[in-house]
Amino acid sequence: MPLALRTPRLLLRPWRDADVDAFAAMFDDPAVMAFLLPAKDRAAIEAIVGRVRAHFEQHGYGWWAAELRETGAFIGFVGLSHIPFEAHFTPAVEVGWRLASAHWGKGYATEGARAALQAAFTQLGLDQIVSITVPANQRSWRVMERIGMTHDPGDDFDHPRVPDGNPMKRHVLYRIDRARWEEMSERH
Ligand SMILES: CC(C)(COP(=O)(O)OP(=O)(O)OC[C@H]1O[C@@H](n2cnc3c(N)ncnc32)[C@H](O)[C@@H]1OP(=O)(O)O)[C@@H](O)C(=O)NCCC(=O)NCCS
Repeated sequence: MPLALRTPRLLLRPWRDADVDAFAAMFDDPAVMAFLLPAKDRAAIEAIVGRVRAHFEQHGYGWWAAELRETGAFIGFVGLSHIPFEAHFTPAVEVGWRLASAHWGKGYATEGARAALQAAFTQLGLDQIVSITVPANQRSWRVMERIGMTHDPGDDFDHPRVPDGNPMKRHVLYRIDRARWEEMSERH
C-alpha cells in the first residue's frame, strides 16, 4: 500500500489519471517553469508521471500528488524521491515540490514538505534528506530554509543532466539529517 499523508490543509496521495491534465497545464505557466527544464510534448509529461508512479511502486513513496482537502483540487506535488543521477552526495533522497502558481504564497509547499520530512525520518527510517535547486530559485530554497534544511556552499555542484553552458547548470544543495530534524521537532 503506498503511503499517503494528511496535513491540516493537504492530502498527499498517489497520482490519479485525472491529475495529468492539471499537471500538464503547469508546464504552460512561465512562472512555474522559470527554473525548470521544459517538457518536449504531452508524451514527455506523461512519461514523467509514469516515472513518478514507478517510484511509488518500487519504494512506497514518491512525489505525492498534492490535493487541497477543502476542495479536492490537485494543486501540484510535494514529495520524496531518489536522486536519479550520480553526484558527490548520491545516493540520496530528495524532498521536492512544484505547485500551480495560483496556490503559491499560502504555505502549502512548506506544510507538505514538513509532513514529507516527518515521514522520511519516522515511517521510512531515512537518515538524511537533501534538496536541490538553482541559486536563482529563491522561492524554492526559502522552503528548504523554512523546513530547517541548511546549505554549505562547498556542496554546490554542476547538475549532470543540465547541458553545459545552460544558466541552470549550477545547483545548490541543502541537507537535513535526522538529528537536526529531531532537535527542530522538539522545539515546535
Ligand atoms: C517553489 C514553490 C513550491 C514555493 O511555493 P511558495 O508558495 O512560495 O512556498 P510556500 O508554500 O512555502 O509558501 C510560502 C509563502 O506563503 C506565505 N504563507 C502564507 N500562509 C502561510 C502559512 N500558513 N505557512 C507558511 N507560509 C505561509 C509565506 O509568508 C510565504 O510568502 P512569500 O512568498 O511572500 O514569502 C513554488 O514557487 C513553485 O511551485 N515553483 C515552481 C516549481 C519549482 O521551481 N519547484 C522547485 C524546483 S527545485
